[in-house]
Amino acid sequence: MQGKGLGNKLTLEEAKKEIEKLREEIRYHEYKYYVEAQPEISDYEFDMLMKRLEELEAQFPQLITPDSPTQRVGEKPLEGFPTARHDPPMLSLENVYSYEEFLEFHNRVLKALPGEKVEYVVEMKIDGVSIAVQYENGVYSRAITRGDGFQGDVVTENIKTIRSLPLRIKEKRFVEVRGEVYMPKDAFERLNREREEKGEPLFANPRNATAGTIRLLDPREVARRHLDIFFYYIFIERDYPRATHWENLQLIKELGLKRNELVWFCRSPEDVLKIWDEWKDKREDLPYEVDGLVVKVNSIDQQKRLGATAKFPRWAIAFKFPAKQAVTQIVDIELNVGRTGAVTPVAILKPVQLAGTTVSRATLHNEEEIRRKDIRIGDWVVIEKGGDIIPKVVSVVKSRRTGKEKPFVMPRKCPVCGSELYRPPGEVIWRCPNAACPAKIRESILHFVSRNAMNIEHIGESLVDQLLKNGLIKDPADLYYLKKEDLMNLERMGPKSAQNVLDEIERSKSNDLWRLIHALGIRYVGEKTAKLLEEHFESLDDLMKADYNKLITIPEIGYKVADSIVHFFRDEHNLKIIEKLRKAGVNFRRLKDVEEGEKPLAGKTFVFTGELDSFTRSEASAIVESLGGKVSSSVSRKTDFVVVGKNPGSKYQKAIQLGVKTLNEEEFLQLLRESGYSI
Ligand code: IVH
Repeated sequence: MQGKGLGNKLTLEEAKKEIEKLREEIRYHEYKYYVEAQPEISDYEFDMLMKRLEELEAQFPQLITPDSPTQRVGEKPLEGFPTARHDPPMLSLENVYSYEEFLEFHNRVLKALPGEKVEYVVEMKIDGVSIAVQYENGVYSRAITRGDGFQGDVVTENIKTIRSLPLRIKEKRFVEVRGEVYMPKDAFERLNREREEKGEPLFANPRNATAGTIRLLDPREVARRHLDIFFYYIFIERDYPRATHWENLQLIKELGLKRNELVWFCRSPEDVLKIWDEWKDKREDLPYEVDGLVVKVNSIDQQKRLGATAKFPRWAIAFKFPAKQAVTQIVDIELNVGRTGAVTPVAILKPVQLAGTTVSRATLHNEEEIRRKDIRIGDWVVIEKGGDIIPKVVSVVKSRRTGKEKPFVMPRKCPVCGSELYRPPGEVIWRCPNAACPAKIRESILHFVSRNAMNIEHIGESLVDQLLKNGLIKDPADLYYLKKEDLMNLERMGPKSAQNVLDEIERSKSNDLWRLIHALGIRYVGEKTAKLLEEHFESLDDLMKADYNKLITIPEIGYKVADSIVHFFRDEHNLKIIEKLRKAGVNFRRLKDVEEGEKPLAGKTFVFTGELDSFTRSEASAIVESLGGKVSSSVSRKTDFVVVGKNPGSKYQKAIQLGVKTLNEEEFLQLLRESGYSI
């Protein structure tokens, strides 16, 4: 796919060979995309092929032929529908993928309009199919696909099924509005589910589904698929009615035509970048797919003076978001054992760029999924990054099969400890039943320290692996018994990093209760449920005592979760870990919720000496901190209170010496009460 960089000069012969290969490849992918609506490579990869061909043709203009893919605007219209011409032609947009490239566009615009102020309108680039819709005498009359930009298919009846499309508008002159037809994500998922049930091939994404739907010959079937539309251009009597794009968008709305409300007015390229940066991730939350921003010069007069090249307007650009889909090859299928013992197959991929990162693994979920999608080792596949961090395999590119691909057989033994796997009735996931399975232990420790659980920084995969390998820990609770010497004997661990790790572990002892509940790794108890449980139980001990009937009375807790919690706290192994955590001084109590900004002990420093009856040292520290106070380990003139328990140490004398205020346990409890903590 990658050609040689331009730095290496090719001979005419070499260039000719590469150009021919590129053209053949591009024609093939154009056919798959436009005619069959079943693309095998991502838009980005396609653009890269095209870019390389353009580069070579610029270097060797004598090799340009009229039938080169670079020499035309779009693709042939499809058969089966009457065709109509576009006036003016429907151009396409040039893509940029980075801010640098976007700035090049901006500078080109400035250069062509010397001394003028340029303002942009930014819109979402809807990942659908572009369409021109016409109204005559205020009545919907025709809809034409983009086709090759000059001529497209007349699909009036199919577009008419779109509920948001008005069939009458108040403007009586000849109106043409252009925009994007798309399939909302939920309609797309529903459609694919139905196709799956019927054993029909699935659509790789909503755009393909839209393209496929528009060319259906039966409008009743189109109607069932719930397409929708956003308009972004309006012509009246074949010209722009108002002086700026912004005002034209306004008119679209005034006429009752649907436009996307996500539009921005920008005075600088930095403003555009801000929107791009914000929406490259937030786009996941939209109910329809977008693949970038479209940035348009606002003034129609400036647009007209900027004009267009053979293919693209010079006054607009597509500023694409990082690609979510890519095509790559499965080199192998491995098994991953999770903390609950779930054994999931994982595809090992030829590394590929996707949404700004290099991806070399993708989840395959389970055996059923592999069978359903007919995924084999050696297959070329479309992978996609959705809301989750781990990409998934969307579909297999069957046309690239050579016959050498190997079907995957799910082993019946745990790949890590060799135990016989079992599959609970009605479930699709195989599990390793061995509580001592090293893979389960490793994952449970990683979960325990993770950001949304105990949030212990500086402990990642490699440290956990070293700790396990050296026998320093066997479960998460062992972390609290690590000594500095233990850590310092490990690779790449100096005294300072060792201390950092220990400080982080120490800090985690005063975490909120919900973090501990989540960290324990109870099946079906994620962060949200853990927070909910914290609302209903004051301490871990309370939760441990709760029986099924009590748990089930909490409205959001279902039987599956309740059952799982009860079982978790009956398990000997789990109870041992919990007792070890308690002994280490990990906070087991709910900390008083203090409203944001309301920190009655803010600015006060506390030192503890001796034992308290009501709390462990770390619980007391956690409470003080939750009320905004600070806890220190040594007494100085800056200390506000020294809390003195039974058998106090030298800190008590030091407090007297320095004249620092001391509190006995009762006084301390009184202070907490006064600060709004209920005991
Ligand atoms: S303007 C002359 N605006 O992107 C300018 N296009 O890659 C033509 N698209 O063919 C297009 N959202 O199908 C424009 N807000 C938007 C768009 C948009 C999606 C599509 C359209 C176009 C393609 C160009």
